[in-house]
Amino acid sequence: MDFNGINCCRTLGLNPYLGMSLVVVMKNALVTGANRGIGLELTKQLLDSGFNVHATFRTSKGGLEAINNPGLSIHKMDVRNKEQIKKVIDSIESIDLLINNAGVADGRWQSISEIDVEHALEVLNINSVSPVLVTQQALTKLTEGSKIVMMSSLMGSISDCRSGRSYAYRASKTALNMFSIAMKNELDTLGISLLIMHPGWVETDMGGPNAPLSTTESVRGIMERIEEQNLSMSGRYVEFDGSTIEW
Ligand SMILES: NC(=O)c1ccc[n+]([C@@H]2O[C@H](COP(=O)([O-])OP(=O)(O)OC[C@H]3O[C@@H](n4cnc5c(N)ncnc54)[C@H](OP(=O)(O)O)[C@@H]3O)[C@@H](O)[C@H]2O)c1
Repeated sequence: MDFNGINCCRTLGLNPYLGMSLVVVMKNALVTGANRGIGLELTKQLLDSGFNVHATFRTSKGGLEAINNPGLSIHKMDVRNKEQIKKVIDSIESIDLLINNAGVADGRWQSISEIDVEHALEVLNINSVSPVLVTQQALTKLTEGSKIVMMSSLMGSISDCRSGRSYAYRASKTALNMFSIAMKNELDTLGISLLIMHPGWVETDMGGPNAPLSTTESVRGIMERIEEQNLSMSGRYVEFDGSTIEW
């Protein structure tokens, strides 16, 4: 049974007329920012692994439109919009896997004097606070054994911050890491594990054309990390290949 039994049943039932029958219960994943980049590839690989995927987009369905799979549900959802989040989550019976993937880069400011504080607050809102809002709204649908992935970045590591700059993006991922760890104890008691991921430097609109990793390779690694994840590993901060990142 591949991917931890995801492709197959959680329940085996006996039908008195047909003999042994298999009651197949598919697992549900919710992926934010799924219309392009890493989120789109996550959606594809999760579908291939047998998940039902609730893929969300902010303005345009993008690459989701080309996917022809009955396990895919597409929802409009800006991660800052509580009403939209609530509507999507209300439509899902239960969530086995929540991937808070949506994120934005900052203004690539080169000096302190260039920092646009309004833009910086927006980056913090989308990258740090909104994943908390989505998680908070999803709590009623997450159950024992569910997994939450926070798409962080190596750039959120304080000990790795040698070159400086990328001020708001770095700060937003550091704050996301702390929000995650601060939520961990409560999630532990609910049996929900938390995975804080760095996807690698990936060739997307955000990662740019010089990135060494394709979305396929990065997401293959992320899928392995999700599969092996259990409650005892909750709160780990790792790269797509499984190596640990220093805070
Ligand atoms: N690429 C890398 O090298 C790299 C490295 C480390 C971490 N990451 C992280 O990985 C995640 C995905 O990055 P990516 O490279 O795939 O970026 P990307 O190609 O720029 O895609 C970003 C996704 O986030 C969505 N998004 C942005 N703001 C949103 C909002 N307010 N509500 C809903 N969706 C929103 C975008 O939707 P729109 O199309 O509507 O803008 C898009 O779907 C991000 O959290 C990023 O920080 C990426």
